[in-house]
Parts: sequence; structure tokens; C-alpha cells
Amino acid sequence: MSKDKTPYESPVVIGCDHAAYPLKEAIKAFLQEKGVDVVDAGCHGLESVNYPDFAKEVAGKVSDGTYPRGILLCGTGLGMSMAANRFKGIRAALVSDGFSARMSRMHNDSNILVMGARVIGESLALDLVQTWMETPFEGGRHLDRLQMFDSFK
Ligand code: RB5
Repeated sequence: MSKDKTPYESPVVIGCDHAAYPLKEAIKAFLQEKGVDVVDAGCHGLESVNYPDFAKEVAGKVSDGTYPRGILLCGTGLGMSMAANRFKGIRAALVSDGFSARMSRMHNDSNILVMGARVIGESLALDLVQTWMETPFEGGRHLDRLQMFDSFK
């Protein structure tokens, strides 16, 4: 990695449905430009698909430890976040503002960033990705709290 590239955690697995395909392509290019190895779980075009298929692909592979972090995108982000959070160990954060993106890392150690392509524009989405990638987890009392809900069935 060259000196001007940010040492973001890598690889990142990314998935979307048809509503967010253009945004997925923009985020992929943005992360690759920063030296991140991006694993593209689809979809690969604008034809209608079922978002749970892609939530399963991304959240399943973060849940089983194949990848440390993932990004999921759909029209609102709602369906993707609901589906992703069914997987053990997944802390998917649906975010549309910078404060929440930062706090989702600092306090919640979110391992999947979810955004709605019909809710926010591309520039804001890229800014949120950058914030989310750069913000560390604070640990401490927040870890205790995460462990509490990790024990839920
Ligand atoms: C697709 O029309 C839309 O329902 C999906 O992208 C997402 O917003 C679901 O939560």
C-alpha cells in the first residue's frame, strides 16, 4: 500500500439489491482507490432481485469469520439491516448521518454498515463509509454491553 492510502481494515465484503447497484459500484471504487480489497457479493445490475439473498451472502460471511467487515445497501437500508441482524455476531448499523456512523463503531462495534440508496446521496454515503472505516471501537463498558446482547437467542 502506498503512503497516501489509508490503512483501512481489509477485505470488505459488499452486497446490494437492484435499488442500490449504482451506489455499490461507487463505494467499491472509493474503497479500492484507498487500497481496500473489496469482495463483491452482487448484485451485478439493475434487474430486480431479492435483497435477503445478498444480506445472507454478506452477513453470513462476516458471521462465520470469512471477512471482518461488510457493507449492505438497498433502497431504504431497512430490509438489509433486518435480515443481516438475524445472523449470530452481526451488528449491522443502518446509518444516514455522520454522528451515527461514528458512534456505531465507537460504542456498538458495528461490523456491517447499511445504507439506503433511496434515502441518501452518493457523496454522503461515501463520507459515511470513510467515517465508519476510520473509527475504532472504544471497548471497555461498551464491550460488556455488546456481550449482553450477543447471548440472546
Ligand atoms: C426494493 O424495491 C426495496 O424494497 C429494497 O431495496 C429495500 O428498500 C428493502 O428494504
